[in-house]
Amino acid sequence: MKSIYLVGFMGSGKTSIATYLQSALKWSVQDTDQMIEEHYQMNIPTIFKEKGEETFREYETNILHMTNNENTIVATGGGIIEKDLNRKWLRTNGTVVFLQTSWEEIERRLMDDVSRPIWNNQSRDKQQLLEKRLPKYLEVADYVIYTDGKSVEEIASEIISKINA
Ligand code: S3P
Repeated sequence: MKSIYLVGFMGSGKTSIATYLQSALKWSVQDTDQMIEEHYQMNIPTIFKEKGEETFREYETNILHMTNNENTIVATGGGIIEKDLNRKWLRTNGTVVFLQTSWEEIERRLMDDVSRPIWNNQSRDKQQLLEKRLPKYLEVADYVIYTDGKSVEEIASEIISKINA
């Protein structure tokens, strides 16, 4: 079967849901952020600081093309949908699940986060970024799952029932 690509804003739960689905479906799991760090031997904050966001986006596209597009759950970075090329690739190669989370819930979840360069950049309006990205997530999504107030188990079983329907 085609791989499942989880897309959604920072804090929408892609990584934890991918891990849960991995054991439920007995599929392998990949995480584009983690693959970037391994492949380029640099952590994400350092890439942003030393190379800039544009280079990070190039790395992200290269890594997306290296993901396994069969029987794998792929957790993607929140900005993967920024590039047309990535959106086209996702629509063609994967089953895409958009984890839709409200701004209020994202703020709650990421309150103490210090690991995400865009989230921690005080000069960026993250709520506006979420609004700007929303149509792009919807454009690539085969399925949309609302995550507010739901447990990882509930979200994962919704995904499983949608892909098996
Ligand atoms: C980003 C989201 C991050 C990571 C990078 C940029 C974004 O991934 O790829 O910090 O542009 O939204 P998560 O969505 O896993 O936090």
